[in-house]
Amino acid sequence: IGAEDAQYVASLIRTTPDFPKPGIHFRDFTPIMTDARALRLMLVALERTLPVPADQIDLVAGLEARGFLMGPALAAHLGKGFVPVRKAGKLPPETLKQSYALEYGTASIEIETEAVRDGQRVLIVDDLIATGGTAAAAAKLVELAGGKVAGFSFVMELQGLDGRAQLGDYPVTALTEMP
Ligand code: PRP
Ligand code: ADE
Repeated sequence: IGAEDAQYVASLIRTTPDFPKPGIHFRDFTPIMTDARALRLMLVALERTLPVPADQIDLVAGLEARGFLMGPALAAHLGKGFVPVRKAGKLPPETLKQSYALEYGTASIEIETEAVRDGQRVLIVDDLIATGGTAAAAAKLVELAGGKVAGFSFVMELQGLDGRAQLGDYPVTALTEMP
């Protein structure tokens, strides 16, 4: 997409100071989802900036909750299936579980053991990377489930937290960087 369209999409990101805790600038891409033109532009932009070519991806995995908004849309856009990675305690057995730290607390996520077949190449997607803890935990789950991490796609990357450092050598792309 062109610079003007990219600017339009980025302009819809809503920032809420001191949410959910004092000192956190909460970045929310929901207004992109609500806007038909921006939603389509976002999907096209994500497709064009995939960390690996689409034919090297078998599945898209999205992280609860906001990775569930964009993930299935991107998966359908690319012609791939979608695997949900959920917050702990939501999926019936059998699951694999991983704990992690994030910018404002700790959490655990789970994947269904059978959701990924051995050797499948999985693109992990989320709205945002901050410390990278969530994404790194998701990568561990995909590997524990027998898959290979193809790479990561994010809409937003928060600067100054060095989230990419948590993701080792995996290829990572983000549509926009934010302070
Ligand atoms: C946000 C965001 C990412 C994660 C990134 O989700 O949607 O999943 O934080 O943070 P990190 O890079 O520091 O791990 P959050 O944990 O707030 O979950 P929610 O949207 O499901 O409430
Ligand atoms: N997850 C971690 N940090 C965040 C932020 N600043 N805004 C939205 N989601 C986040």
